[in-house]
Amino acid sequence: MAITGIISKYPSTLIYQLKSVEKMPLEIFETAEFGSKYVAQSIAWAIKRKEQLGQTTVLGLATGSSPIKIYGELVRMHKEEGLSFKNVVTFNLDEYYGLTHDDPQSYHYFMHEHLFQYIDIPKENIYIPDGTIPMDQVSKYCDHYEKQIQLHGGLDIQILGIGRTGHIGFNEPGSDQKSITRLIQLDNITRRDAAESFGNIEDVPYKAITMGIKTILSAKEIYIMAWGQHKAEIVRSSVEEEPTPRIPATFLQLHSNVRYCIDGAAAEKLTRVETPWRVGSCQWTDNLTCKAVVWLSQLTGKPILKLTDEDYNEHGLSELIAERDNAYQINLAIFNRLQHTITGWPGGKPNTDDRNRPERSTPTKKSVIIFSPHPDDDVISMGGTFLRLVDQDHDVHVAYQTSGNIAVHNHDAQRFLEFYEQYNKLASITPKNPLFDAALKTLLSDAKDKNTPEVRAVKGLIRRGEATAAARFSGLKDKNIHFLDLPFYEASKVKKSNGTEADVAIIKELLMARKPHQVFAAGDLADPHGTHRICLDAILTAFEELKDEKWIKNCWLWLYRGAWHEYTIDEIEMTIPLSPQELLKKRKAIYMHQSQKDSAPFPGEDSREFWQRAEHRNKATAEMYRDLGFAEYEAMEAFKRWKFSFQQ
Ligand code: F6R
Repeated sequence: MAITGIISKYPSTLIYQLKSVEKMPLEIFETAEFGSKYVAQSIAWAIKRKEQLGQTTVLGLATGSSPIKIYGELVRMHKEEGLSFKNVVTFNLDEYYGLTHDDPQSYHYFMHEHLFQYIDIPKENIYIPDGTIPMDQVSKYCDHYEKQIQLHGGLDIQILGIGRTGHIGFNEPGSDQKSITRLIQLDNITRRDAAESFGNIEDVPYKAITMGIKTILSAKEIYIMAWGQHKAEIVRSSVEEEPTPRIPATFLQLHSNVRYCIDGAAAEKLTRVETPWRVGSCQWTDNLTCKAVVWLSQLTGKPILKLTDEDYNEHGLSELIAERDNAYQINLAIFNRLQHTITGWPGGKPNTDDRNRPERSTPTKKSVIIFSPHPDDDVISMGGTFLRLVDQDHDVHVAYQTSGNIAVHNHDAQRFLEFYEQYNKLASITPKNPLFDAALKTLLSDAKDKNTPEVRAVKGLIRRGEATAAARFSGLKDKNIHFLDLPFYEASKVKKSNGTEADVAIIKELLMARKPHQVFAAGDLADPHGTHRICLDAILTAFEELKDEKWIKNCWLWLYRGAWHEYTIDEIEMTIPLSPQELLKKRKAIYMHQSQKDSAPFPGEDSREFWQRAEHRNKATAEMYRDLGFAEYEAMEAFKRWKFSFQQ
């Protein structure tokens, strides 16, 4: 089958060398959509082929975020192309132990929601482990599940996601290669990841029933998928390390018909992407050369200008020396390139030659919009640059894309509402506000999920107040502060649905009203809840849809990364150094977000407070530049420019 949307980063002549590093066939797709379509097509072809032979296709199915787009595509093929599932039998990998079939977190519910309700599969052909089986019958039940698979002739195709522990199904680290369907204990990391959709870690079950590694390996064909940066490390280790129970997915290397399907973000840590010169011959673009020089400098602990021909030769970079003459030439070129990323003038330095500066010197006073996905990303990720832009007299506007209301603790909302109630009493004010009253009533009740629209509205107001305080502290007038409350966010819970035209329309309206010269936006695609990704997509779409406007051809989009991690040095195109005083001021702006200061309800993996994460990251960037041989600054904020095809 022709594979579309594949990123061919590696010349086919080097497949042999690649195999010595990557121990499973792997395809990198431009996007998860392309990868999912490819897997869905493979499944559809298998179903049709077997149907022609009068045979049944037995599919092993997974849940979680990874296969959702595959199910979407299968449903589309059923509706639009007549793909029938009448001759299909499915076996799901796993189910949480203790959840009833109608529990919204159960995998029974998930499969119905995403696939079964839309297709013509006979009910009796669906097998999903039953999490309600009494404990003393579980073992017998699991044996029976295995037998059912065999009775149907075994799994034809198994699809898999991978957990950050390296689990496949719920075979957590330590699982034996010979394991079959059984009850297991969930790893803590897995439970923490699941807490996002359960809303609370305490509600995540401790146990699950899962097919074993042996059951999975018995499938005739296997597709394993991983999408997104947060999977990059586990993708690398599962593909490049030897089979080990420490990383159960490595056992897939023993299968003769397995294919790993990932997107560019999940491929970031693969040796062929991170240090391709260790795999074989490379095409030495400027970016790759920069990456290699920074890597070599960090590996040898030498500043760039001190790297010698021997350093290059001894560390597998002789090809680069051969191509570019000598170390001195390479060092100088890369040193200058990185030097030119550093500027104290994020809006461009007025009245200077800007050929070697990241931003244009004209117009001297720029119209700027800073987009912030959540109400605190602006100050966390670019608080120092924000202050500079205002100080340097640019016309800065900030636009908070979402209300961020889901990330406020119930007790905080209750505190505000009780203050309001007490105030009303003291001031003898009646009548009261029905929205506030309803919110307080819910918060004081025993309701399990207290995030009613009223409570979320109050939480949104709390975050609005904090964002306003931080933006004012950074020097903005209230008229320059915009709250967009994008509809996609309000319509979903922790895991976000996709953005819509309505979101894009709101962004377009603001862009048209301001006609900015410069836009800053979060380019952080590792956001665990997907909000940053959707907010960026809405901005990119808005730019594309406005591409015929004259001003947008000169509107530069700068991306910053959110609280999770920084761009790598070779990716950075503008770095703003911060003085110790500026860093302190940035910290104070972050402090304004008091509802996030304690421990935010959805902090992701990192338990540090946001101001700490921001400072550690900005200081680490400054240290990295210092170690490469540049001046030593207190901290640095980094940006990368997004260039549209309609811009130079
Ligand atoms: C789901 C399953 C798990 C997931 C894995 C990845 O049935 O067995 O192994 O595939 O945890 O989850 P997502 O796709 O949500 O990242």
